[in-house]
Order: sequence, then structure tokens, then C-alpha cells
Amino acid sequence: MDEQKLHQIVHEADNVVPRPTPKEFYEKQPRKSLQNLDDYKRMYKESIEQPEKFFGEMAHRFLSWDRDFDHVKWGSLKEGVISWFLGGKLNACYNCVDRFALSTPDKTAVIFEADDEGECRKLSYQQLLFEVCKLAGVLRSWGVKKGDRVAIYLPMTPEAVIAMLACARLGAVHSCIFAGFSTGAIRERIFDADAKVVLTCDEGKRGGRITHTKELLNKALENCPDVEKVLVYKRTGNPEIEMVEGRDYFWQDEVREYPGYIPPVSMDAEDPLFILYTSGSTGTPKGVVHCTGGYLLGAAMTTRYVFDVQPEDILFTAGDVGWITGHTYSVYGPLALGAATIIFEGTPAYPNMGRFWKIIEKNKATHFYVAPTALRMLKKSGEAEISKYDLSTLRTLGSVGEPIAPQIWEWYDEKIGHHCCHVADTYWQTESGSHLIAPLAGAVPTKPGAATLPFFGVDAVIIDPTSGKIQEGNDVEGVLAVRSSWPSMARTVYHCHQRFLNAYLRPYPGYYFTGDGAGRDHDGYYWIKGRVDDVVNVSGHRLSTSEIESVLLANKKVSEDAVVGISDDLTGQAVIAAVQLKDPHIADDEDSLLALRKELRMTVRKSIGPFAAPKSIIIVHDLPKTRSGKIMRRIIRKVCSGEANGIGDTSTMINPEVVDHLIKAVEQQFGVKN
Ligand code: WT7
Repeated sequence: MDEQKLHQIVHEADNVVPRPTPKEFYEKQPRKSLQNLDDYKRMYKESIEQPEKFFGEMAHRFLSWDRDFDHVKWGSLKEGVISWFLGGKLNACYNCVDRFALSTPDKTAVIFEADDEGECRKLSYQQLLFEVCKLAGVLRSWGVKKGDRVAIYLPMTPEAVIAMLACARLGAVHSCIFAGFSTGAIRERIFDADAKVVLTCDEGKRGGRITHTKELLNKALENCPDVEKVLVYKRTGNPEIEMVEGRDYFWQDEVREYPGYIPPVSMDAEDPLFILYTSGSTGTPKGVVHCTGGYLLGAAMTTRYVFDVQPEDILFTAGDVGWITGHTYSVYGPLALGAATIIFEGTPAYPNMGRFWKIIEKNKATHFYVAPTALRMLKKSGEAEISKYDLSTLRTLGSVGEPIAPQIWEWYDEKIGHHCCHVADTYWQTESGSHLIAPLAGAVPTKPGAATLPFFGVDAVIIDPTSGKIQEGNDVEGVLAVRSSWPSMARTVYHCHQRFLNAYLRPYPGYYFTGDGAGRDHDGYYWIKGRVDDVVNVSGHRLSTSEIESVLLANKKVSEDAVVGISDDLTGQAVIAAVQLKDPHIADDEDSLLALRKELRMTVRKSIGPFAAPKSIIIVHDLPKTRSGKIMRRIIRKVCSGEANGIGDTSTMINPEVVDHLIKAVEQQFGVKN
């Protein structure tokens, strides 16, 4: 979203009347987590002014501890030391599985909706415990113990959930790799985490097609000599799958030998629970580290208070366990509350545009959580499908990953929610572990397009990026930061605390810097504007421009390149690459230009994943640069968006003549006029 647009939206917000949670919401579920806005205000105030008291009580209410904690909150953002619940001991798997396997063993925990509509599987809490223990038995026999990293490269199947929980049970640190990632990205993540064990499957099923999970992993592992063991779940049972003797074993064969119960390992609250890689503006992806106690509390509390999830609820988070949304709201959040979670393997368009709605009707889902990009697609092409299904069980509709345009919000509220649901735009990040800014069900009135008010313990501030000063009061804009740590905040970047400090704590000393721009309107509501760094958000997937740039640069024909994100109606943002060739004549005729573009796009698909492939590749003579040689992506972005007028200051440019060339190239090759 550009600045002007945000300004307009925040300005228009003056006329938007906040809407209370519809009364139908509580007709469906009369138990109230919170009664009203005053409830929120009182609790929020306490969470900021007396975090020890507030979160100490919450930690006792939401989690089961093996040993009580001695301190609730310790350290400071200034020192870069963050700890919560020191001295406390607990196990995340016990909290998400055993507790409910003991109290409500037959209650459904996981509902599997496979790519093929006919295939469905349910696991009760008791069955989940059994499966988790069996797998933990295999891992333990392989020598996996507390603190070891285990990579999980699995699509959205119950096995992914079982794998994460089995690691948590042993105190091993899981590192999920999104199943859409290709060899280069897989290798990099396994290598960086120094994982010796990988959990995967033979093949995946998605949108009616087979994905070659094990084959991609095999290629990635050619350059990961430290991986000792790979456990392969037979999803399709294709006998052709290549297995490496002494390294690769089949999941179904191995688990047979192990008992249905092994005890959980008691962990310190600050022991890492998982690593999840995320893209930043510079360098390789960062392995964001989340710790057991604080993360789990954040997951449980936000799932309860933002969405109002109760034990009898059925959550459909249409994300992927390869991203943080899947970690927190497909796995840890719902299971920590004893609710049921729907794990969906497929895509919203297969076998037709009614798939999401069919899943909701069939399973009587109470909560639906998705990225605006899917809503835009469904609004555009799937309206006819919606009315075929009964969606009346829904109580909460969530949105995540990118700003939701007010008209999409309205559409969601009307067509999917029939004005009977709590509609929650949730702003957060991989690093935050759980919601940072989101309306709490029943308490915080909503405004279409606004993430609304900060969650408990999140002391949100808006900083003027030029002066570095905090913008007090309402009706202000700037960059979004947080004044103090909150329980589920990431603690570090795996084996590189300096990177953590540099990216998040040093830009504004004493504050956590989100990387996003935001406005706060006259009601104190937050409107998120999007990244202020070089991170691109395509369909809710966060991509770093530098990662794509280095893949393109690896092609021998490329001498230099710059990747930018520009607005896109369907995917939110789209990736555009400006590429300078070593031999500019390669692109002289249409055919070779076409072939080159295809080749470059393919390299990105193969190395990072299909979703990162540039939508357009523009061949340029030169890239705009500063005197110190830094590429000025802002200029490329503006020209590609047809906003060359708004380029602004070019006085720091060493080659101002490039702008005209760029404008021409963009017009000829991309069809955008300036
Ligand atoms: C970035 C984080 C949060 C889980 C999925 C993405 C953008 C996220 C919103 C929202 C506007 C949003 C931000 C943020 N973002 N949610 N509701 N409104 N922008 O996690 O990959 O770590 O990306 O996504 O730019 O910094 P992620």
C-alpha cells in the first residue's frame, strides 16, 4: 500500500464507525471470554503496567507447569536479553496433547481434509498422543535429544503436526521447511540449522497433482553431508522413490517397534521450541528462535481472546505449517486449548472454488482463518459456489499476512459471515510468534481494513522514521515498534544473535522494530501499511528481494539485477526483476529474450520455489545507483508502478540518465507507461 493511499484510508477512518461484535456471535456460543471494550481496556492496562502480575496469572491459567517459574519477566530490549517465566519447567507437547488425552481422550484433535475430497481422517487426543509417542520413540532411538535440531519437510498432513509435537516431546527443536520450497531453499535451511535428522514424505498431493517431495529433498541433501537419518512417510506409496541405504527409513515401518507412550521431557521455559526461517531485507534467511513457555502462552492466549476459541470449537486455519500461521493457529494455539484443528492438504481451487466452503460445512467449522489473497481470488471467481454451502456454524473469520482492503473485509463479513461473525484482521509476524494487533472477540469493535488495537502486553508505538521520535497521541503515522518484550516474542536468530540485534533491536534502541509502516487514527486504531524495507509480500508469503536477486545473479548471463515488489490486484504484491546482462545482445531477438526469461524464472522456481518466481523480468542497460554504488530499488519500484513522477530526490544518484532508459524499458517490456 503506498503512503498516499494509507493517508487516505486513515483519513477516511474518521467516518468509519467501529462495529461491535454481532450479537449472533454469542447466540452461537454464550460463554464470553471478554464482555466489552472496558474489559479489554482494563486488562490491557494491567498487562502493560503490571506485566508480572498479569502474565503470571495467565501462565497459570492457560498452561500446565512441571515446576513453577520464579520470575515472570526478565531482561530488557535495550540489553537484547528477553526472558519470560525463568525457573519454570513445562513441555509443549504435554500441554497440547497429554492434558486433553487425559481429560477428554475421545475428543477430536486433528481433522485431516486431504487433497482428494473423499479422503478424510480424524485423530482424537488419545490417538494423537499415541502417534506422537511412536514417532518420538523412533527419534529417541536415533539419538535425538533435548536441543537437537530436526528439520521437517512435510506438506499439510497430520504427520506434520505429529512431527512437530514429537520433537517438542523430546525437547528437540523443530525447523519446518515450507513444502513449496525447492532445493536451494531447503538445503540452506537444513544446513543453517545443522539438522542431523529430516522428517519428510515420499510425495505430496496438491490441487490434483503430485508434488515430488522426497525427490527435491534428495537433491537438497546432496549438499548436506551432516544429515544422518531421514524418515519418510509413505503418503502415496510410490515404489519408485529413491531411498538412500543407511540414511532413509520409512516412517510406517519404523514406528511399529515403539510403545504408544513415552514420557515428555521437562523443558525450561526459555528452552527453544522451534526455529522458523524468515526472509529479511539483507542476507540469508534468518532462523527465528521461539522458546517454549512464552511462545505457547502467546499462542494459547491469542487463540482464546482474539478468536474466542473454546474447547468445543473447530478451527480451520487455511495456512501451512511451513509458515508461522500454521505453527501458531493450526497447531499450538488450538491444541493448547483442547480444540480441534482442520489440516487441509489442498488448494482453495480444487476440485472447484467451493472447496473451503465445503470443508467448513462438512466439519461444522466455527473458525476460519485465511490470507486476503485467497479472499480476493474467491471473490473474483468463486461467488457462485458460496451459496451452495451452509456456513452458519462459523463464528470468527480471521485475516492474516497482508493488509486487507476495506471492500474485501466487507465482502468477507457479508458473503462468508452473513454479518453474524467476528471479523478479525490480525497483524503479526514470524518474529512476534502470535498476534500483535488484532480485535478481541466480543470486546474490541472492528473497522474494515484496520488491525484495530494491540494485544495484551504489546506496548505498540509509532516512531517518526526521520527524527526517531515517538509519535504520541492519535492521528499519527510512522514506523511501528514495540516498547517492551511480550511473552511470545522471538528471542534470537539461530546462532547469530548479532543479526537479531541488528534487525530488530538496534534500529530504534530500546524498541522492537517491526519493519512495517503504520498509522494510528483518532480512535487509537492501527492501520498497517506494509513493509518499509526490501521485503516483498506475495500472497501473504514473505520474500526477501536479496534472496531472489542472488539466485538470478548465479546465472552466468546476468551481470547485475534488482528485485522489487509492486502492487498487484490478486497477490497483493508481485515480484519484478530488473536484470542487466553481461552481453546485452543476447536479448536482441524476441525468441532468445523469451527463452532467457523462462530460464531465469525457472532458476528461481527450482531454487527457492514457484511462488518466488518474478512475474516480470525487465532487461535493462543499467541499474539506478547511489554514489556509493547501492542500487536504488525505490526508483525501479516507482517506474514499474507507473509512478515515475513520484521518484522524488535523485540528487544522490550517480547515473540519473538511467531513469529515462528505465522508463522506456518498462514501457516496452512491461507495458507500463509513465
Ligand atoms: C509481515 C510478516 C503473520 C503471519 C503471516 C505472515 C505483513 C502480516 C498483516 C496484517 C498488514 C500484515 C507485515 C508483517 N502482515 N499480517 N494483518 N495487515 N500486514 O508472517 O511472513 O512473518 O510476515 O506480513 O508486513 O511484517 P511473516
